[in-house]
Amino acid sequence: MSVTTPEIQSQLDSLVSLETGEIDRRIFSDEQIFDLEMKYIFGRAWLFLCHESQIPKRGDFFEAPMGRDNVLVVRQRDGDIKVLLNTCTHRGNAVCRAEEGNVKNFMCTYHGWTFGLDGELIGVPGMSTFYANGLDKSKHPLRQPAQVAGYRGFVFATFDPDAPPLEEFLGPTGILSLDLIAEKGDMEVVPGIQKFVLRCNWKFTVDNVFDFYHPQITHMSAIAVGAIPVTSNVIDDGGAKNEEGQDLGVAQLSTDMQAITMLGEYGHAISGPSQLAVEAQIPQEYRSVFDWRHTPETQAKLGPNGSLVGGHPHIFPTTWLTVDSQLSLRIPRSPGVTEVWWFSFRDKNASPEEKAAQLSRQIHAFGPAGMLEQEDGENWSQSTMQTRGDQSRRVPQALKMGIRRGKIRHEDGLNIIESPVNEYAQLWTYYAWKEWLKNPSWDELRTRTVPGDLL
Ligand code: FES
Ligand code: FE
Repeated sequence: MSVTTPEIQSQLDSLVSLETGEIDRRIFSDEQIFDLEMKYIFGRAWLFLCHESQIPKRGDFFEAPMGRDNVLVVRQRDGDIKVLLNTCTHRGNAVCRAEEGNVKNFMCTYHGWTFGLDGELIGVPGMSTFYANGLDKSKHPLRQPAQVAGYRGFVFATFDPDAPPLEEFLGPTGILSLDLIAEKGDMEVVPGIQKFVLRCNWKFTVDNVFDFYHPQITHMSAIAVGAIPVTSNVIDDGGAKNEEGQDLGVAQLSTDMQAITMLGEYGHAISGPSQLAVEAQIPQEYRSVFDWRHTPETQAKLGPNGSLVGGHPHIFPTTWLTVDSQLSLRIPRSPGVTEVWWFSFRDKNASPEEKAAQLSRQIHAFGPAGMLEQEDGENWSQSTMQTRGDQSRRVPQALKMGIRRGKIRHEDGLNIIESPVNEYAQLWTYYAWKEWLKNPSWDELRTRTVPGDLL
């Protein structure tokens, strides 16, 4: 007997517990939960689509996902931006097969209906013959999401007409997340978005964004060959030892690394080592990555707390920004399949040498050629696979690191925890996720996702 939507919704509190840090593995493989995610998260949230620098000229377009829909972000003749659903209003075919480019209009390859840059239906083959002029073209434009807005060049849209304005949705945590890239200069996206598919649930890719427990183990080989710029600053702490008490060398963690975690409304979060910890651990040749942080203007813009962030920001549900100016979308395709996109940013005014060095760092870290995500992807695939075993799926996930010890300081609209490496942001993301799935009003959702004083 299938479980109904209200039944699943009534079980959500038992699937994710802030008190115990335990999470039911069913959330990673259940088809009905995936459908609810599409409806109540991706059907409502503001979703990142692209950066304005990708579509500078009129007729430029970029195709982006919004849940299971695809949209075209199109630069208009007057310089404005419109977002059009990429489905023909005749019989549904995609009106554009390219992922990005420049067009004068969109002609559907099925029967030739043609739409202007603004989505209006402007051409119908056989209008006077087959249709006897009986078709009202004004009634068949390409559909558009309910709201489109931008923040410092980052373009977002939502299907929900009742969603709060973008900047209200982002809140101080989401805005700081975008500022951490936008403040670096006159930023533009490097042409060519890296795209690849992983056989894992999308939430594994999201909770790993904040995971600074895994690099020393998962990325041991990347560290060894210098793909991760970390100086050796590892302290033995609880790693496996042999009978003589000698370190077995496989589970050492840098416990001296101080972390800053910021928990935001609607499930946004920033977490990872503090800026000071990062700068203390990276080799000299990578220090230039952080130079921009030290100007008085940047410090003033980011504020005293924002200036301390050295870890990863995440805008709920699926937009991750990295320290080295990359943005990743984790796109759910099914409970067990996630597509990952990487946008790499650079300062337009940087020298050719700086641009080349940054791009080299970026593509060697993340994306299909990056060492990190190849290693991460293996873990996420295995973790997803084990959530399907009859016995394995009954074992709860344990996100207990630092639990009930996270004292939250509320300052500048931010909710800050200063502590060693932890799992607060992961737990916060899952907590917010289950509140989204209950489909409350926006006011109610915001109220429920305002962090208290302890996590
Ligand atoms: Fe597009 Fe027929 S489906 S013209
Ligand atoms: Fe990783």
